[in-house]
Amino acid sequence: MSLQDMLIAMEDHKSLFEQEIRKLKVPVCKVFLKNGKIVPAVFAKSNEVIGTSDRDAVNKQFPKTVAKTENKILKATGNLEKKVTGKRVAVLFSGGPAAGGHNVVVGLKKILGEGNTLFGVKNGPKGLLEGTLFEITDDMVREIVNTGGFDFLGSDRTKIKTEEQYNAVKETVKKYNLNAIVVIGGDDSNTNAAILAEILFDMGVQVIGVPKTIDGDLQIGSYLPISFGFDTATKIYAELVGNILQDTPSSRKYWHFVKLMGRAASHVALEVALQTRPAITIISEEVKEKNMSLDALVQSIADVIAKRASKGINHGVVVVPEGLIEFIPEMMRLIAELNEVMAHYESDLQAIQTMNEKKDFIYKKLPAELAKLMASLPDEFENMLLLDRDSHGNLQVSQIPTERLLIIMVEERLNEMKKHEDEVRHLNMTAEEYARFQKFKFATNSHFFGYEGRCGAPTLFDAAYTLNLGLAAGSLILDGHTGYIVAVTDLQKGGDVLALPLTGLLNIERRHGKDEMVIKKALVETNSPAFLFFASRRSVWAEKDHFTSPGPRQLWGPSSKQLPVSVALNQGYQSLSFDLGEEVQVY
Ligand code: FBP
Repeated sequence: MSLQDMLIAMEDHKSLFEQEIRKLKVPVCKVFLKNGKIVPAVFAKSNEVIGTSDRDAVNKQFPKTVAKTENKILKATGNLEKKVTGKRVAVLFSGGPAAGGHNVVVGLKKILGEGNTLFGVKNGPKGLLEGTLFEITDDMVREIVNTGGFDFLGSDRTKIKTEEQYNAVKETVKKYNLNAIVVIGGDDSNTNAAILAEILFDMGVQVIGVPKTIDGDLQIGSYLPISFGFDTATKIYAELVGNILQDTPSSRKYWHFVKLMGRAASHVALEVALQTRPAITIISEEVKEKNMSLDALVQSIADVIAKRASKGINHGVVVVPEGLIEFIPEMMRLIAELNEVMAHYESDLQAIQTMNEKKDFIYKKLPAELAKLMASLPDEFENMLLLDRDSHGNLQVSQIPTERLLIIMVEERLNEMKKHEDEVRHLNMTAEEYARFQKFKFATNSHFFGYEGRCGAPTLFDAAYTLNLGLAAGSLILDGHTGYIVAVTDLQKGGDVLALPLTGLLNIERRHGKDEMVIKKALVETNSPAFLFFASRRSVWAEKDHFTSPGPRQLWGPSSKQLPVSVALNQGYQSLSFDLGEEVQVY
């Protein structure tokens, strides 16, 4: 074959890498194996009950699923002995993509086997409402095994919450004669799953959720150590940040401000910091806890930069979590008030054409001090705060250039510090050091890493984790359960497979100017082992370069077997390696 023909043969996801990853053997937990073959698992109800402080309100709103699950955790105890056939199951992706989603579908297809039918729902929850389903075949899953992205089915962010939508789902169920639906999604999508489990209960339709999100904010202590996609995304960002870190002492002139995706929670920023050790990493949850003003935050960044400059280090990296802005107390008040005003005057605002008129309208509805704060922000930034909320009522933080706002404000602060010596007194610089700082030129670059990390080929951990989550979801269906989200724990000991009642994860939050029942986001806890370790090292990393470059993620060899550092620390493990069972070629 000529080189040209070889190159043409590689089109459509057939690069050498993509061909090889399809053959990659993936670890499978013991409960799914019998004589080396993959088989369904059986689940038993434990006595462990989960719930949030809003459990009474939740139990009232979800009487049928709660009566069935009793909010108790299920544990996979061994192989399912009875043979179940004739089930018709639909699977959909919901929300932002995350690496490994395809392997959930592969796991489901494998476990449902010949005797049952698996349908893919095109375009997420919207497709469920529109009834755009197709039958998934073995040949199809052979193509997607171990590949990244959600392109096999597509996804969207439709929230299912109206009577009309419930009826549309019921129509789809009837049209395809479905017995079960699997929702692969994050906190908001699994809220949809909890609602579907309740409204479809009387039709005998089972609903199972699968924990997906690169944000890592769908986790519950040792019951659900992490959502899938987090490992791949953070390893990709850590490689990029590691490369930038390596550039800084090479070119010796830039400060890079890197915003990392992760929505409200700072898990991604914390994990990347633990993998790369940059000079400055901001953790939103800590900013909120310390009640830091925007000015105080800017000062803390400027202090590190000034101190390094005084020692002749004119470079560094600042890691900024995507959701930071929502955690600075004064900005939190502003955003909460904006959310209320924008929800309340939605139709008036829709009728207004220009951004300036929109601002005028909104300013008049805000309390004076918040209107003043809003007006003090750079224009570009002010406009971003007025962007439409997503269908779940969230501010679209990925669209807000926080990293650029910080650069502008830090630069102003550094200029003031250069002009007034008394403003650096707290940094204890010698006269020589201050003179050096005064000569320092603050040259910056800003980056936003987000979409780069969501669809890469899954790491070995995510490939294995998702395959096992798919096997677990399919097993729960064959074993007759509904209203659960699947989980794999004990990641260093072969993996324990659990199912957590979705209603146990719900709490009440303010969305779109209303109280809504949604799955509680898990934020970074400042008393967690991962945060405490980071906090114990950051002053060392700030003082001078101690960074590491983890390099590209590996699917073969020793560094392919590493867990996210924050997960290993928070789970109390003594090493980074994982063990999810025997390696199997699934298709
Ligand atoms: P979910 O997993 O919760 O859907 O969000 C993932 C995410 O990547 C967030 O980190 C980010 O804020 C958001 O999606 C971006 O959304 P979009 O894809 O709509 O731009």
